[in-house]
Amino acid sequence: MHVYLDNAATTKVLPEVIEAMIPYYTEFYGNPSSFHSFARDAHKGLDDARRTVAKCLNAANPAEIYFTGGGSEGDNMILRGVAQAYRKKGNHIITSKIEHHAILHTAPRDPAYAQRTRG
Ligand SMILES: Cc1ncc(COP(=O)(O)O)c(C=O)c1O
Repeated sequence: MHVYLDNAATTKVLPEVIEAMIPYYTEFYGNPSSFHSFARDAHKGLDDARRTVAKCLNAANPAEIYFTGGGSEGDNMILRGVAQAYRKKGNHIITSKIEHHAILHTAPRDPAYAQRTRG
């Protein structure tokens, strides 16, 4: 018997999720950022999903919910965004040795900020 212990990285998708996604793989697969009719249908699906996630998380506004293509993109967006937002309070990012490479490789590449590593 195999036991999968890396569910934080990837995980089995519930059958209900697969069923809910089928229309977006087969019919509404347009780029939601475009203007054609395929895009409008996909955009509506994305808006519906954003409202559902916002409700689950008790977010005040669905516009607070951002979907990213993966973990690295999310790490980059938050790390750079928070550093930029707080740049007047300090120009350094503290990481630890156990951070994912998406964090460790982003922090020192942002030329506006120095990195101090504590491990
Ligand atoms: C904290 C963290 N960042 C980034 C990633 C990488 O995610 P992706 O391959 O979707 O970019 C992972 C994957 O396990 C992660 O745990």
